[in-house]
Amino acid sequence: MVKAVILGAAGGIGQPLSLLLKLNETVTELALYDIVNSPGVAADLGHINTPAKVTGYLPPKEKNAPNDGLKNALTGAHIIIIPAGVPRKPGMTRDDLFKINAGIVRDLATGIAQYSPKAFILIISNPVNSTTPIVAEVLKKHNVFDPKKLFGVTTLDLVRASTFTGEISGHDSRDIRVPVVGGHSGITIIPLLSKISPSYSFSKEQIDSLTNRIQYGGDEVVKAKDGAGSATLSMAQAGARFADAILKASVKGEARLIEVSYVHLDADKDGGDKIRATVGLDYFSSTIELGTNGITKIHPLENLTAFEDSLLKAAIPELRENINKGVAFIKEDS
Ligand code: NAD
Ligand code: LMR
Repeated sequence: MVKAVILGAAGGIGQPLSLLLKLNETVTELALYDIVNSPGVAADLGHINTPAKVTGYLPPKEKNAPNDGLKNALTGAHIIIIPAGVPRKPGMTRDDLFKINAGIVRDLATGIAQYSPKAFILIISNPVNSTTPIVAEVLKKHNVFDPKKLFGVTTLDLVRASTFTGEISGHDSRDIRVPVVGGHSGITIIPLLSKISPSYSFSKEQIDSLTNRIQYGGDEVVKAKDGAGSATLSMAQAGARFADAILKASVKGEARLIEVSYVHLDADKDGGDKIRATVGLDYFSSTIELGTNGITKIHPLENLTAFEDSLLKAAIPELRENINKGVAFIKEDS
């Protein structure tokens, strides 16, 4: 039995992500939780003739009643994906979402700590640079934190990097891999274009403009949606791709599955400490290898160009601030 849970399942990302998970034949049970509309989304998806049994859950109507909806959604989970929370409007930074989303993510993480502490946890809710540390701190408080199983989802940055570089290199964007490391907001997004596969030699101007487009790809969508939210469909595809990698490694035992994710560097002491020695942070979006129990290896940062090194130096202060803000939110919350 492989139970996948989506928290925030009725939203702009939640609905298409739920659809893609319903189409993933490794999933045998799909539990959808939201504060609105999740039973409707579950009934709709439940008519699709793929293996997953779909259930929808809501919180209780009465204030202060126990949240059996969240409990029942989470119990027995193998993988939990969290896109719950508000998206940006034009003019906002992802950090502007902290005041609403930090509390939402904290409360959902508390449920996970109580009902499904061994599950793989994928955080989509922004600001990912802070919400991932928030979840880690909640799990630590409950003595159930496993850094090998917690992932800030940054796959959309890689998806964008493949698409945008393919427009220039002419390679099929489905075959292109660009590691995008650091974090998930503006200057903390560090595309390593020198490591692109298949290899391609970009001009200096192309590197400058591609880097900027990948760093601010989210803003491109926010501006185009003009007040109606941020990326939802591309994010759902990216989230489903990352979830599928976790399922392939953890359920099907496919070895050496390589992805990129924003992780706690304790997940692999060896590789993690090498990155820590360079960046001086506990969290960093890194190239990781996945196995049955989560992260097996973090690849160190190697052979950066002078330009990539300058991007890294520019990213570190903001990333540090974002991480500290998330950690402090839980430490000061008792
Ligand atoms: P949305 O407003 O369309 O959907 C959010 C859903 O969360 C809604 O259905 C809402 O009811 C639900 N929700 C709110 N509080 C909840 C709670 N306490 N418990 C359960 N569900 C709750 O927003 P969206 O466009 O789907 O975006 C969701 C989040 O994902 C935003 O924070 C956005 O910034 C982020 N995002 C991240 C990435 C990434 O690359 N990591 C990409 C795109 C969007
Ligand atoms: C994205 O990169 O599209 C998301 O983080 C949403 C946003 O606010 O840009």
